[in-house]
Amino acid sequence: MRTPLIAGNWKMYKTVGEGVELVEALLKGVEVGYVDDRQVLICPPFTALYPLAPLLADSPIALGAQNMYPADQGAFTGEVSPVMLQDIGCQFVILGHSERRQIVGEDDALISQKVTSAMEHGLTPVLCVGETKPQRDAGEAETVTLGQLRAGLGGLAAEQVRDVVIAYEPVWAIGTGVTATPGDAQAMHAAIRGALASHYGQSTADAVRILYGGSVKPDNIDVLMAQPDIDGALVGGASLQAESFLRIVNFQ
Ligand code: 13P
Repeated sequence: MRTPLIAGNWKMYKTVGEGVELVEALLKGVEVGYVDDRQVLICPPFTALYPLAPLLADSPIALGAQNMYPADQGAFTGEVSPVMLQDIGCQFVILGHSERRQIVGEDDALISQKVTSAMEHGLTPVLCVGETKPQRDAGEAETVTLGQLRAGLGGLAAEQVRDVVIAYEPVWAIGTGVTATPGDAQAMHAAIRGALASHYGQSTADAVRILYGGSVKPDNIDVLMAQPDIDGALVGGASLQAESFLRIVNFQ
């Protein structure tokens, strides 16, 4: 019912040349091993999007950005607009990643504007939510995560919500090698789907894909994907090498 989505967030890695090399290896890999019951997405840094777009056109791999500014154009030095991303062939955009919340100081209000603006421009937002370690230790994991969810989706009409992708990324699991247990991840995914059902109705909640992110690796993807409410993965470090990302794409 929900097509699984395996997404690679390259973060601030890969020059254009390195990106081309990785994409060529990924395309070769999906040619031999790809089952089309799943969708694959890569989100390179801004500088690599334009040169990679033609390589990915008509391929099974979709292209996404890692951020955008919620305006069509204007005096916003250093920012990139959804119109520009659309123009070069992006289909997705990651929004509200914890690294942007924590390092750049993005708040829920700005993230909500970005989600709404992305949808208005035909880009699928991948809205990231998730708690920090102190918040989990204080028993606030669900409150924080569901609060970010509610705020991030706040500007959307109910019928738009079904097309959004949510990524649950507990901050303490990102880049640490510590993954949430499949049980803990499933519990939060179920809570997210429950919140979507109570706000937007069960059929919308059933349509939304909820990805897990945070130290997803070849050796834990299968057990994560076996959980009923985990519909895919947002992969950081392991998406930077063809072999590990392809293994994740080919989860059992
Ligand atoms: P890692 O897979 O490197 O932990 O990163 C996860 C992440 O932040 C993806 O957006």
